[in-house]
Amino acid sequence: MNILLLGSGGREHAIAWKIAQSPKVDQLFIAPGNAGTALVGTNVNIKADDFSAIKEFALANHIGMVVVGPEDPLVKGVYDYFKNDVALAGIPVIGPSKEGAQLEGSKDFAKAFMRRHNIPTARYKSISAGNLEEGYAFLEELQAPYVLKADGLAAGKGVLILDTLEEAKKELGDMLGGMFGDASKTVVIEEFLDGIECSVFVMTDGESYKVLPVAKDYKRIGEGNTGLNTGGMGAVSPVPFADEPFMQKVDERIIRPTIEGLKAENIDYKGFIFLGLINVKGEPMVIEYNCRMGDPETEVVMLRIQSDLVELLEGVAEGNLGSRTLVHDPRAAVTVMLVSGGYPEAYEKGKVISGLDKVPAENIIFHAGTKAADGQILTSGGRVIAVSSYGADKEEALVRSFAGAKLIDFEKKYFRNDIGFDL
Ligand code: AMP
Ligand code: GLY
Repeated sequence: MNILLLGSGGREHAIAWKIAQSPKVDQLFIAPGNAGTALVGTNVNIKADDFSAIKEFALANHIGMVVVGPEDPLVKGVYDYFKNDVALAGIPVIGPSKEGAQLEGSKDFAKAFMRRHNIPTARYKSISAGNLEEGYAFLEELQAPYVLKADGLAAGKGVLILDTLEEAKKELGDMLGGMFGDASKTVVIEEFLDGIECSVFVMTDGESYKVLPVAKDYKRIGEGNTGLNTGGMGAVSPVPFADEPFMQKVDERIIRPTIEGLKAENIDYKGFIFLGLINVKGEPMVIEYNCRMGDPETEVVMLRIQSDLVELLEGVAEGNLGSRTLVHDPRAAVTVMLVSGGYPEAYEKGKVISGLDKVPAENIIFHAGTKAADGQILTSGGRVIAVSSYGADKEEALVRSFAGAKLIDFEKKYFRNDIGFDL
């Protein structure tokens, strides 16, 4: 089978790496991909949300399956685009329908869905310009800190956590006034939950599901989880507190009601569900849903899937995932992200990356923001390279990834030396 994977980050390189290991694959194409995906497949110069170009390519290249990496094409309806096109309808798209993608595309939709299905999550109220006074009143009921979330997609920047009521009221007004454009025309105000987070990934065909290895990502730029939020500075798997009793609660209270809720509401969902969970004194609660895999979590989760990923993806497409096997790798896996100096604020691109040829085989390198030019590999984003490793435990894996992180170099390279410190 020929597979087309949409996206261009570290997550997509990791998925491509895993797909390419399957004997079921003839050709793997990545649109648009990066310098790393070109090592395991063929990059195609098409944007992940250019549906008509994707159609033309898919038909011309006998694509048998489309795997969607990022949320954008899903929220824009790539699944529906294929389903409703006579020529494309036979090509399965791994990812939810446009409606299903609203679990990520609209915080208001996600919260209302959880409320309807009794899925544990923070108390909330959705506010728009018309009921601002209700927003103020709800804030007054809550305790500090205050959580404000732009309803729509805001490139991971739409959540504000504020220490005082005054700030919260001011920011609520500013958000509704267009701080995040249309994305914050509606704002979800949430009760603050105190606990430690983890990322749970579920693969579903709409009926049955498989739970992938649990991971934890490190979002802040600074060591000790300080400073600005980033797309993710590293990840580890497994997560010790996500033990069997905890995961049983996750299964009963969150995963099953989510899958059953989607089904009961006739929402087409054949793909990945990413549950951003928080452990509040042993009780799992949902912080957010995403309709895709996480980045950089995928850069460890793919290492911990022993089974053939394509075999599982076929199960999703054909609606028989329940009869397929998912074996988790017992080893630990970690990833350390090398980023451009200055990120997540202004940073420079186009720096020559050296040392990629020096890293030992025990490091599995995933490119996040790179491009090839004149025989060199250049930086082309804030997050540049993820250095993943296996180990008997996370400590051993981290020693390997930190060693690899030192061998690869580019001007103003930065990485966090404390990934996994809080587990
Ligand atoms: P989200 O985009 O919804 O995942 O929010 C981004 C980050 O904000 C999360 O990963 C949490 O660290 C934090 N956050 C979001 N909602 C809450 C909440 N209700 N309580 C505490 N922290 C939160
Ligand atoms: N690592 C969090 C995310 O992918 O949204």
